[in-house]
Amino acid sequence: MSTSLSRQQLLNIADEYGTPVYVYHAEKITEQYQKLKTAFAAAPTRIFYACKALTNINILKHINSLGCQVDCSSINEVKLALHAGFEPKNILYTSNGIAFSEIEEAVSLGVNINIDSLSNLGKFGKKYGHSYPVGIRLRPNIMAGGNLKISTGHEKSKFGIPIEQIDQVLELVKTNQIHIAGLHIHTGSEIKDVDVFMKVGDIFAELVPRFPEVRFLDFGGGFKVPYKENETGTDVPLLGQKVAELINQLTATHQRNFEAWFEPGKFIVSECGYFITEVNVLKESGKIRFAGVNSGFNHLIRPMFYDSYHHIENISHPEGPLKNYTITGNICETDTFATDRPIAEIREGDKLVFYNAGAYGYEMGSNYNSRYKPAQVLVKEGKAFLVARRDEFTDLLRNQVEVL
Ligand code: LLP
Repeated sequence: MSTSLSRQQLLNIADEYGTPVYVYHAEKITEQYQKLKTAFAAAPTRIFYACKALTNINILKHINSLGCQVDCSSINEVKLALHAGFEPKNILYTSNGIAFSEIEEAVSLGVNINIDSLSNLGKFGKKYGHSYPVGIRLRPNIMAGGNLKISTGHEKSKFGIPIEQIDQVLELVKTNQIHIAGLHIHTGSEIKDVDVFMKVGDIFAELVPRFPEVRFLDFGGGFKVPYKENETGTDVPLLGQKVAELINQLTATHQRNFEAWFEPGKFIVSECGYFITEVNVLKESGKIRFAGVNSGFNHLIRPMFYDSYHHIENISHPEGPLKNYTITGNICETDTFATDRPIAEIREGDKLVFYNAGAYGYEMGSNYNSRYKPAQVLVKEGKAFLVARRDEFTDLLRNQVEVL
């Protein structure tokens, strides 16, 4: 049976810390990481947790303690990772659209870097020449991913250097003697189909002879996790087997050692997370039964932004008869979490839990409508720890400068 928190544990946390509250389960993170370790055991592979999914410092420390490495999408994430105790060599900074000064800072911190534009690659070459090994992020012109907003590899995407510009890359490399140590392609999030990763593998295999110093092939992240009941995620063991075949074959063919790199975010932290809310208001309108909770897209935007599905359960009245509800928030815009969803009968004051809320939940939250960011609680070895307090009124004014 998969590691999970019980309704009672969640209710106890809601009672102790109030709602809305995000709850994370450390052992579930461990379980997910172990699945990856097992799946990718047959060839040299490095797993970098894409920490944009959830950056709470205690989560980062837990992930570091597992031996997992970390992928960052901003220089501040790099600094958080260092703060959490990751060694620079275990930090990867996959940049996109950033000022060159951030790359300079990343170099001074000694972390691994993937560069995603010809412009920054040129500047990098001029400044560092061959002295600092670097990866390049390429755009493969592959359409993949759960929805267009989270698809990054297609031919209209801003991410990476378009693959058709590879000759320009090679020109820059030659002129500046750049040490290209890795190739990177991330096609998007929620990639269920293992073949998408293997298409990326084919591109790597074609490019490797043109980059004699490449040693890592970074397939990005994007493993799909099941959000709906009966849904399946990416077949990670199958992916591990196919990637190992590729890596071992490339190593034999080219007589140099290759590593596969991955940057999963969701796979590591999505299922460890629970978001508990409380029902403020019930409202009936024709056939629609609204249940309004004490949250909104300021706390969990995925349903509104991507039409994402999060399983919702009434943990205060789980045995109640199933009725259909439209779950909405308290924000002054349409903030529908679920439409016409069968849920155990809801009463005002009941606690509704949103599952799979660990990745891109709290992290994409805001203070819109001047509402407080929720608290975050981590459960480890059966004990609950407050790992981020709920905002208070002073937080809303913290950065404001009163000049009048
Ligand atoms: N590597 C790169 C370069 C990325 O841009 C991302 C995600 C990842 C790795 C991790 O992807 P993951 O394994 O978590 O799917 N906010 C969206 C997901 C898009 C994240 C953007 N980049 C969501 O809530 O579905």
